[in-house]
Amino acid sequence: MNQIDIERTAFRSRMVGGIRSDDEGAEVKLAGWVHRRRDLGGLVFLDLRDRSGLVQVSLGPDWTDAASLELAHQLGAEDVVTVVGSVVVRPGENWNREIPTGEIEVRASVLRRLTNADTPAIPVYRGPEDELPSEELRLKHRVLDLRRTELQENLQLRHRLILACRNYMDGLGFIEIETPILTKPTPEGARDYLVPSRLHHGEFYALPQSPQIYKQLCMVAGFDRYFQIARCFRDEDLRADRQPEFTQIDVEASFVDPDDILGWMEGLMVVLAAEAPRIQAQAPFTRMTHAEALERYGTDRPDLRYGLEIQDWTTALVRLDAPVFAAAVAGGGRVRGLLLEGGATLSRKQIEAIEGHAKATGAPGLLWAKRTDDGGSGSLARFMDDEAYQELGMNPGDLVLVAAGSDAMTSPALSAARLAAIEALEIPEEREHAWLWVVDFPVFEEGPDGTLTANHHPFVMPHPEDEDQLETEPLGVRGLAYDLVFNGVELGSGSIRNHDPEIQRRILRLLGMDDAEIDRKFGFLLNALSSGAPPHGGVAFGVDRLVALFVGAASLREVIAFPKTTAARALYEGAPTALDADDLAGLGLSLTAAVSQDGSAEESGSQVEPTE
Ligand code: AMO
Repeated sequence: MNQIDIERTAFRSRMVGGIRSDDEGAEVKLAGWVHRRRDLGGLVFLDLRDRSGLVQVSLGPDWTDAASLELAHQLGAEDVVTVVGSVVVRPGENWNREIPTGEIEVRASVLRRLTNADTPAIPVYRGPEDELPSEELRLKHRVLDLRRTELQENLQLRHRLILACRNYMDGLGFIEIETPILTKPTPEGARDYLVPSRLHHGEFYALPQSPQIYKQLCMVAGFDRYFQIARCFRDEDLRADRQPEFTQIDVEASFVDPDDILGWMEGLMVVLAAEAPRIQAQAPFTRMTHAEALERYGTDRPDLRYGLEIQDWTTALVRLDAPVFAAAVAGGGRVRGLLLEGGATLSRKQIEAIEGHAKATGAPGLLWAKRTDDGGSGSLARFMDDEAYQELGMNPGDLVLVAAGSDAMTSPALSAARLAAIEALEIPEEREHAWLWVVDFPVFEEGPDGTLTANHHPFVMPHPEDEDQLETEPLGVRGLAYDLVFNGVELGSGSIRNHDPEIQRRILRLLGMDDAEIDRKFGFLLNALSSGAPPHGGVAFGVDRLVALFVGAASLREVIAFPKTTAARALYEGAPTALDADDLAGLGLSLTAAVSQDGSAEESGSQVEPTE
């Protein structure tokens, strides 16, 4: 079938977006929305819109029947109409170069209204000077907002990416398997959304934070290569790059090591990037260990578009008479910093703003020094001598930002300062598309109260070289775990899993569970692992983040048809909603005092901007 045959329906002979001057003279029947109407008294011009684009339709007494012309005078924005007419090439001076159909118009002989639209609450047509309505208003009127070209294009790209992904994975022998939505909690570090059971009062299903355990069960079941475009649910504090429900490209394979997974997934990213005009991906991607990423950039998701790196200046600076350096080293810490060439152009206020970003990570502050022709300035300058300036590699006109203390404090502080300084100094990108695998993530992190928590999730296999120090030095145990980072954003993460039930149990014990709790929560997984589990591993990518990055959107809400606000509300349809007492009783539930008297949950606001 050719494109026009595909587009044809009972209501139209084709869609509007593909009509060109070589269709001159063709009779067409079109259907769509009145995007804009210009009424010149005798003549009426409509911009007719369907999913494929816009076309100008002209109606006039010489070629339009009287009833249709009369109707054209009455049409409102967003009315749904059909027209029958012929394609006419416009005189050159009337070409509209802004739209692909701008060389032609459709002279309508007949116009019919299919639906009369209320005056739109937010305009779909926007002139070049018109600003977008507020995001809250747009989310309240999402159906109208979705008619905007940008959102239409974002969702079409999303579809193409998912389709390309399915084809690529299928080509590699992966099969898509659906896993349950009503399930048992799967730990991914967030709170679960819970669904009360009507048949079993007091019992709850959890919505999956990811299909993690099920995909491992699929490996034990012998499917060898699984993938799924999987919906995940996490009840966590939301930001512009997080939604309570989101979609993953979820992947798992048997008899693999990290190189197998990383190689396949680089191929996937190359295929996906080919769909997005703004993005390039060339395999193989850079790889860096987690330890190196923290050392050089202070973060496990460094933005490698820029070269600026953190330096260790402990040896160079500890001899200076600055008590904070001595204290840092005495406490087992280091003195680290950033050398900003030409950074002396920044004002004190700008430097304090950069310091503010470092402080927001919990650091007490930064020391800084500018080197000038006749000495230096800044909070560090009074401790500095010529030799120190030289050891730091500073020339006149340069600036250093320094943090002293534990790596756990200086790394996030300097990472934040690095990004803020790059912005303030407008440091140019060294490359436009920085793909990076960060590998060998530690298995555990230290929780605030000194307990161990899983860095990714509890199913990561320890690095074979580190396995025997699981109990003795758990925080030093590297995992066979990796993240994919694109331009400083974590796109996905994965690992090789524990297919040995005994190692899995040891890790769960280290996470503070006794055997009874392990069996209650994960007995079904351990049973499966005991039934003959192949070595296996996988990865998952956030589809929403991927599409947002590929279209350059600031928020995931720009690439999700019906997103939630940062207060986890759906503004269009209005969710969540209160339940009446009967419905609650049917579920064996009653509300506590935290809920206001009219039965509705206390208002948590509907703001859409990040709260951080
Ligand atoms: P992880 O929890 O790192 O790994 O999630 C994988 C990717 O999913 C995306 N993502 C989100 N996107 C939008 N909103 C959210 N709230 C959100 N949370 C996560 C991110 C992230 O990199 N089961 C493991 C994967 C594995 O080990 O195979 C997992 O879910 O892009």
